[in-house]
Amino acid sequence: MAGDTISRLLETLTRGEKLGLVRGAADPAGTATGYVAGIERLGIPPLRLVDGPLGVRIPDESATAFPAPIAVASTFDPTAAYRKGAAMAREAAAHGQDVLLAPGLNLIRIPHCGRNFEYYSEDPILTGSIAASAVEGIQSEEVLATPKHYVANNQETDRVTVSADSSERTLRERYLPGFHDAIDAGAGAIMTAYNRVNGTHMSEHRELVTGVLKEEWGFDGVVMSDWYGTESTVAAANAGLDLEMPGIEPDEQIGGAADEETADQTTDFGALAGGMPDPENVGQFDQALSEAIDSGAVLESRLDEMVRRVLGAIERLDRLDGDRPVGELDTPDHRTLAEELAARGTVVLENDGVLPLAAETEIAVIGPNVHEATLGGGGSSETTPFVTTSTAAGLRDRADGAVTVCRGHPEIEDLSFFDVIAGESTGRTDENKIETEFDSAADAAAGAEVAIVVVRDRATEAKDRESLALPGEQDGLVEAVAAANDRTVVVIQSSGPVETPWRDSVAAVVEAWYPGQADGAALASVLYGDIDASGRLPVTFAPAAAYPASSPEQYPGVAGRASYSEGVFVGYHHFDASGTDPTYPFGHGCSYATFAYRDLTVTDEGAVELTVENTGDRDGREVVQAYVCPPESDIERPERELGGFAAVDVAGGASERVRIDLDDRAFSYYDDGWVLESGEYTVEVGRSARDCLRSVSLTR
Ligand code: BGC
Repeated sequence: MAGDTISRLLETLTRGEKLGLVRGAADPAGTATGYVAGIERLGIPPLRLVDGPLGVRIPDESATAFPAPIAVASTFDPTAAYRKGAAMAREAAAHGQDVLLAPGLNLIRIPHCGRNFEYYSEDPILTGSIAASAVEGIQSEEVLATPKHYVANNQETDRVTVSADSSERTLRERYLPGFHDAIDAGAGAIMTAYNRVNGTHMSEHRELVTGVLKEEWGFDGVVMSDWYGTESTVAAANAGLDLEMPGIEPDEQIGGAADEETADQTTDFGALAGGMPDPENVGQFDQALSEAIDSGAVLESRLDEMVRRVLGAIERLDRLDGDRPVGELDTPDHRTLAEELAARGTVVLENDGVLPLAAETEIAVIGPNVHEATLGGGGSSETTPFVTTSTAAGLRDRADGAVTVCRGHPEIEDLSFFDVIAGESTGRTDENKIETEFDSAADAAAGAEVAIVVVRDRATEAKDRESLALPGEQDGLVEAVAAANDRTVVVIQSSGPVETPWRDSVAAVVEAWYPGQADGAALASVLYGDIDASGRLPVTFAPAAAYPASSPEQYPGVAGRASYSEGVFVGYHHFDASGTDPTYPFGHGCSYATFAYRDLTVTDEGAVELTVENTGDRDGREVVQAYVCPPESDIERPERELGGFAAVDVAGGASERVRIDLDDRAFSYYDDGWVLESGEYTVEVGRSARDCLRSVSLTR
């Protein structure tokens, strides 16, 4: 369907038909998260939209449960995001879906945010580069990507009402770049956020939707609202929103936050108040839009543009001729990929030499949830896999030495907004009296050469975590095990940063995020050193009070407004500026291999190049990070900002020449337009934001 065909169709379509293309409808097949009915008489096929971003979510159906996006970001390897995106898209196609509601790429501003596991990083360059590759991967399989949630959806507390009050500089330098990169990568759709920005609801934000996204960045795809996130007719249509989702009453929404079982409770969200949209927000782009056009409040040409964009998406997918990709589901490759990505995304935070384990080591595997795989957090990203490898099973399969398994602590139950709405859980972590079995755990630990304690948090969409402490008595469990065995390895499975008060009394600390279906298998390959430990932190770990945005005005906000007064000093920028030492800095992660960096130079094109030498026998994988430090500046700038990075395999004893491109953005700040200050910059090359190994000066 070329542009002419779209124009011809527009002439043929009745007003009613046009309206049917700009709002969702009920999916007759009962599989899609969102559905746009086609128009049979004109051969316009329907569009099926389905949730990611951990895997394809279809109620009562299965799909590969990949590791959480934050784990993918921890690879610092855009090709990892590409491969996961392409695999999810093949699975979406196999399930008859056309559009993935992924990637989620909001910047991690608040360490407690309930959806951090669905996002990538506190850094815009890392976020943008991973997001762009995810988009390219998804769209390489004839499925459209939907970067979400545009923009500044950085907390779940009051997400549907809060206004992110931010300066333009902060939006431009922190919260917008990831979306810009995803759009530049060709994303065919985008989802607006529930929150407001500087007082205006994002689905009605003309300046950010039409101004920045469509006019400035040239986005020609579909702007859809988040589910029940279209709050008005005229303001939303005139702001540039093209598609109202889901466009149907909650009881027609399949597997949604308010499906049949929970429909009666949709207006009483209890523990989630402020996190759930008003299900009355439906039908804004129905009759009301028609009336607004009749009254002149919305121009007919605007409706035509909305339709043009939706038809454009169908055209891009080449669906008009009836051909659809057949896709692939749960293939051996997808299973392997789920495992490989979970392993690559695992970050070894500390290691006194206990890791990697020798195959014959006698181990005790301890932890409340070691009998299952940790798939993800709650909400619209929940995926049901075909197969899982529990933590204990994966380690047992790999170990040649004796393996004892002991939970030591009652299960930490998944927290899902679906259950909270259904009244099955209050979302509180202290609802049951906790009967711990620290003595049995300590006995198991004492009887083994190495004790592996696996702990976890619980997180869900629509609610932030209450604290960064591990829920229940898990800190006590770690301490009891560490007291019984001085070769204790703690493995954390979490949505984002957690506090690690026991870290000085254990031999190793490993962050495995939400690893997905391959949990134990992936963990075993890292703990036993089948691959090098190459994951790096995409977020800073620190005690809760040390983070920026820790006043009530900043988070969760006062009187409906969250002040982004920390400005560009988010994440590691804040820790640098305040001179606070984080527990584990951004970019940090230990390898098993050892590396030396030499011969750092600046190329004629302004890239940096260096030689990374693997100084040991073991094959390794290194993540080289280049941070740009500005000269004395007219304005307050962060001490260093990630400019680029590269993940490279270096065989034992070998050296690789590595090049990191630094584009203008790495040197610029925003002040009513991008300003590239000329002067002498320092480029620090190292293994984290706090571990510079070499530096070079670079004049711009
Ligand atoms: C979430 C979106 C999701 C949509 C559809 C909303 O609650 O914020 O990320 O795609 O539901 O399930």
